[in-house]
Order: sequence, then C-alpha cells, then structure tokens
Amino acid sequence: MQIFGVDIGGSGIKGAPVDLDRGDLAQERFKVLTPHPATPDGVADGVRQVVEHHGWTGPVGLTFPGVVTDGSHIRTAANVDKSWIDTDARALFSERLGGLPVTVVNDADAAGVAEMNFGAGRGRRGTVILLTFGTGIGSALFVDGVLVPNTELGHLELHGHDAEKRASSKVREDEDLTWEHWAHRVQKYLAHVEMLFSPELFIVGGGVSRKSEKFLHYIEGIKAEIVPAQLQNNAGIVGAAMRAAKA
Ligand code: BGC
Repeated sequence: MQIFGVDIGGSGIKGAPVDLDRGDLAQERFKVLTPHPATPDGVADGVRQVVEHHGWTGPVGLTFPGVVTDGSHIRTAANVDKSWIDTDARALFSERLGGLPVTVVNDADAAGVAEMNFGAGRGRRGTVILLTFGTGIGSALFVDGVLVPNTELGHLELHGHDAEKRASSKVREDEDLTWEHWAHRVQKYLAHVEMLFSPELFIVGGGVSRKSEKFLHYIEGIKAEIVPAQLQNNAGIVGAAMRAAKA
C-alpha cells in the first residue's frame, strides 16, 4: 500500500509516495523551497506543487514543525509564521489539494514513528527519545513503542535559554561553531533530558544524523545509548504517510 508523505521543514517542502510495507520512498522525492515568511497560504501552495508533481490523487500525510492536535489543529509555530497558530491545517491543505484526505502530524513525531518501525528504534522497548537537530530541536518520546505526542523537548530551558536556541543545527551554522563546541552543547542538553526521563536510548535525527561521525564521539557521560537515525532525511516523509494510514 502507498500513501503520499510530505515533510514541511524550515528550508524545504519535500514529498514522495511512500511504500508502507517497506517503510521507504516508492519514487524519488520532489522538493520546493519553503517560502519566507512561511505563511499558511505560501506553504500550502508549496505542498500543492509537490503533490501535483507526482500526479498523486490519494491520501496525504504531512508533517508540521509545531504542536499538532487531532491530526489537524496547529497550536504552536516556533520557526514558521505565527499566523499558523489556531489554523485547521487539515482543512487548509485538503482544500488546496482539491479535496484529498489529509492528516497532519508534528515533524519529530513523524520521524520518530518511522525510526521506531523501520530504523534505529526497531524492536526497542522501554523509554526511547528521538531528537531532531535542524532549524529547531524536535522530540519524539516512546514508551514500549507507543508515542507520547507533542513533547516539545526542544524548548526545555538550558542555562536560561530555550534549548533549541543553543544547540540546534542551525545555531551551529549561524554561530560558526566547531563540531566539538557544538557537541559540547548537545551533551549538556542530552544530560538535562536524561535527568528528566532516563531513557534507554537516544536516537539523533535531523540533517546532522548523516554527519554523526563528526560529533557523536565528543559526547560523553550520558548513560543512555546514543545512535544516529537511519532513515535520515526521509524519516519525516515516511512517518507522515504512516500516520495518515492510521487516520
Ligand atoms: C517546534 C517543534 C518541532 C521542532 C523541529 C520546534 O521549534 O516547536 O514542534 O518539532 O522545532 O522542527
């Protein structure tokens, strides 16, 4: 079975039909740049271009980089235009896609669901936390394989700062930090999350998961196992399609 997955990120909107049995893209993904400001209207237009590029006419699962309840309602918008708050995203996207059935889920939750089923978290019980380091920091918390949605651990306070403003991948680039310096910040962040949740496993996702050999070895003193995500850039697309399949 196939469902179309779309990942809405800070820099790009990317999507492809997903083969749900294999947990992988069924066709090459197509990407358009995220408009700035990332308003509901502009983003919906980007989503339409991605879905139309593949000529897709079935159900669509989308990620969103903020709190999403009931597969539709947007509650926060840290890194996209604030006018998203309180929108009914399902109605917006479905209307823009000519009435196709749509489900929306938090981006890190989507990536986590994909990793737990097809990637680094497969078969893992206990408490598992996936953290995505990108424009912000996203989190997905699993207890015995069951997702606790919308955990938003990227906004924990660390030394008086919003954690994602200290340790996201964007901050490493913006402040031109060395990998070692940035890894030190990530270590402090992981120690804080570990103090609160004592997970068995941390899965490090987002764009940096492809570069884990540059920084994971600098991270010390964390009791939990730390592994890079395996589906890397496709985790959001795959997880969005998986959630839509359950809707
Ligand atoms: C948002 C989260 C999102 C994360 C990664 C944070 O700023 O609050 O909902 O998962 O960024 O995009």
